[in-house]
Amino acid sequence: MGDNLKYFELNTGAKIPSIGLGTYATPPEIVVAAIKSGYRHIDCAHAYQNEKQIGQVLKQLFDEGVVKREELFITSKLWNYDHEPEDVPKALERTLADLQLDYLDLYLIHWPVKEKKGSVSDGFEKYIPTDIPGTWKAMEELYDSGKVRAIGISNFSTNKLQDLLDVARVLPAVNQVESHPMWQQTKLHEFCKSKGIHLSAYSPLGSQFAEATKTWLLADPVINLVAEKLRKSPAQVALRWGIQMGHSLLPKTSSEARLFQNLDLFDWSIPENLFCKFSEIKQVKIVKAESMVHKTSAGYKTLQELWDEQV
Ligand code: A2P
Repeated sequence: MGDNLKYFELNTGAKIPSIGLGTYATPPEIVVAAIKSGYRHIDCAHAYQNEKQIGQVLKQLFDEGVVKREELFITSKLWNYDHEPEDVPKALERTLADLQLDYLDLYLIHWPVKEKKGSVSDGFEKYIPTDIPGTWKAMEELYDSGKVRAIGISNFSTNKLQDLLDVARVLPAVNQVESHPMWQQTKLHEFCKSKGIHLSAYSPLGSQFAEATKTWLLADPVINLVAEKLRKSPAQVALRWGIQMGHSLLPKTSSEARLFQNLDLFDWSIPENLFCKFSEIKQVKIVKAESMVHKTSAGYKTLQELWDEQV
């Protein structure tokens, strides 16, 4: 069965490929292998500290004629210490220089979290109250300039997204959040859908933090039952669920074989009688970002303040 879920349309009219490669802790060789295997969506961030290396391999792939810039969808993200409006364009220029690109397809505010300018410490003292309206206005100016073809946010709860919508001139195109069958984000999903904001899912396989959090998405009985019935791997079933929900997904892998497997999602589907079983899966949030809150912080004091009801 062929279907049309290879891309989703953003509210800008652009098409976002439904599978992208997450590049947190991803070596550049995997980016090369992914693009050679057909990935067209690469999800980067200044905070991942590898944009220079990714820029080098992208240039090499363009020079070799493996892929053209316009065939790729490249995302990056504004880090927490660059939220001051005057720093937003500088942060974009740094990312564009590192990636050796002259535009991004999508630029996201990485977190609804602000750090003091130039902060390098790991301590909570660096966190200060956000001014999302001010930061967003600077993002809108980047959108106006054409250097970013879409703007959005990441890790925003429904409440924080609503606050942004109250002041936004340019509607965010994307909210990139943790989402997988064990953290379905039903309320946020419905809210984004009703506002025309695309939901992009990071950690769609339950994350490399599974070990630390002892949360094994790929061992879940519902996912394994569906995998057995459809003769697919549990990872493929988890990913196909996300695509059928209408989300673009950013799985990470260090293995070339799994790169292929994670892209082999388009000539089959989860039928309704199995899809409805996903509502039985117990919900557990894996990425909580405990290090971003502290009871004496000038920023968020509790996880509840950071994630609102979605913790
Ligand atoms: P590996 O690098 O050994 O492939 P997420 O994208 O949700 O953060 O999850 C990433 C984790 O999922 C990594 O530990 C990765 O391990 C693992 N992973 C990626 N693809 C698959 C797959 N097809 N089957 C099993 N595990 C996978």
